[in-house]
Amino acid sequence: MQESYEIIDLKPQASDFRKEVLEGLLSEHKSISPKFFYDRTGSELFEEITKLDEYYPTRAEMEILTDKASEIGKAIGEGVSLTELGSGNGKKSVLLAKALHNPKEAILVDISMDALKDAMKRLMAEISNIPAKAVCADYTAIDVMSSIKMAGKKAIVFLGSTIGNMEPHDQRSFIAGCRKVLSDGETFTIGADLKKNPEVIDRAYNDSKGITAMFNLNLIARINREFGTNIPPDAFRHYAFYNSKEGRVEMHLISTKEQSYDIGGTTVRFRDGESIHTENSYKFSISELEAMLREAGFSETNVWKDSRDLYALITAVA
Ligand code: AVJ
Repeated sequence: MQESYEIIDLKPQASDFRKEVLEGLLSEHKSISPKFFYDRTGSELFEEITKLDEYYPTRAEMEILTDKASEIGKAIGEGVSLTELGSGNGKKSVLLAKALHNPKEAILVDISMDALKDAMKRLMAEISNIPAKAVCADYTAIDVMSSIKMAGKKAIVFLGSTIGNMEPHDQRSFIAGCRKVLSDGETFTIGADLKKNPEVIDRAYNDSKGITAMFNLNLIARINREFGTNIPPDAFRHYAFYNSKEGRVEMHLISTKEQSYDIGGTTVRFRDGESIHTENSYKFSISELEAMLREAGFSETNVWKDSRDLYALITAVA
């Protein structure tokens, strides 16, 4: 077990919850960014979600990383410097690092220093003799990627279907941004949730234990905490559905009555049934993913799916 690792703090700009939320609630179609789900409680609830029977994406991705490890390792190649964008709790990082042949170093990048330290602890405990670095940064910000020093042959990985939280235009520019920091022959690996029977998707976001509802409604609790408001727990209800036209799950908080609150000194009114749009989670077909990768300047792709064809991992060569 390794004792220490290097921490590089690029001091990501903290989001201004109060400013952004108020702006979102005062606009014509009310919305709150899904990035605000992940306070302490929200992160714990997400962890709970990943263990639910109905929520398949995390398990499916872990299955691929385990069962296809040797093929993935081969596709990414030998002696690479592995950079994982958005390493979260680090469980995937461990599987990935184990799949690689003689990796030079492992660099975990995350916006949350707490999550990073947790992930590094996990990595250190499981992986011996790979130098590791923790980079605290907002990897979606332009130019952050080019300031992360990666030694030798680079391999960037972006797992967890986090791409699905971006709008199509941003998905494309993000992948293009990753291509930009890679040299020809280096790889980019992405994990993404696939289009499938809408009922399966629907169930994953409307679980029987109501954990996803609590995850969504935690935004209201967070507004109460951070603005000092007293919005009662039954003022909004969880609503999630698969929008097949857009190819995405949408999560909303629906106002259960006509109501208004003083939020940060401003009166915010909600109509009965009005929605606050809280998340889009895009689903992809393999051909859509391959087309996006090709457009961004990647050629050869290797595709792996779990045994139920729910989820895909793709390694593309720059
Ligand atoms: C972390 C964005 C992959 O979209 O499935 C889980 C978040 N939202 N349940 C997803 C989430 C509701 C999750 N991602």
